[in-house]
Amino acid sequence: MFKLEETDKLLTTTRAVRRRLDFDRPVEREVLLDCVRISQQAPTGSNSQKWRWVILTDAQKKLAIAEVYRRGCAILDTVQADTPAEEQQTHRVYDSARFLALNLHRAPVIVIPCIEDRPANFNDHCVTATTYGSILPAVWSFQLALRSRGLGSAWTTLHLIWEQEVAGLLDIPNDVMQVALLPVAYTVGQEFKLADRPDPESIVHWNCW
Ligand SMILES: Cc1cc2nc3c(=O)[nH]c(=O)nc-3n(C[C@H](O)[C@H](O)[C@H](O)COP(=O)(O)O)c2cc1C
Repeated sequence: MFKLEETDKLLTTTRAVRRRLDFDRPVEREVLLDCVRISQQAPTGSNSQKWRWVILTDAQKKLAIAEVYRRGCAILDTVQADTPAEEQQTHRVYDSARFLALNLHRAPVIVIPCIEDRPANFNDHCVTATTYGSILPAVWSFQLALRSRGLGSAWTTLHLIWEQEVAGLLDIPNDVMQVALLPVAYTVGQEFKLADRPDPESIVHWNCW
């Protein structure tokens, strides 16, 4: 039914793109709306459909948010310092994450996916899982839709340390919960490699743990 070669390539090469975001090429509004439209087919608990998207294209707004995000550099420095030298892939990720933190304002678009729902009690595991589960699949669909149109993005959560401050800067109401922040741009080049991941047998527990 689907061309497996194409769909598997999409699913396995949609990477966190930071250094290869094309900061100079504008992104069309229609493309962003198409990707949001596609993301709306994602599942939600009780068919709640409380996805909300804050999309920043204004240079001043992007700069304000990027300045908050950049504070995360200190955290990246700390966690990288605790990472063993032999974990090279992880060190590359931190280097790349630092690049993004220093250059976020240059992304043509910054997308903040939100859900119009904030659990009163995060210790209620079922409620928390249902809330996040009602927005995160849509975010990944959005990222896959971007990738299939030649755009890249990177899932980030660092700014959530300062979620309320960002909400204030963007007039996001208190009951609307931000769940991530994605820089979005066309990518420099189209080819992305599969990441090195463990054998599935090593993470699957058949029939019981
Ligand atoms: C929940 C979550 C939070 C993340 N937070 C950040 C972040 O704050 N900053 C960042 O640069 N990348 C962040 N990432 C991206 C990961 O670093 C990235 O997925 C990882 O480097 C693996 O790269 P890949 O997605 O290309 O395989 C996050 C990813 C996830 C799923």
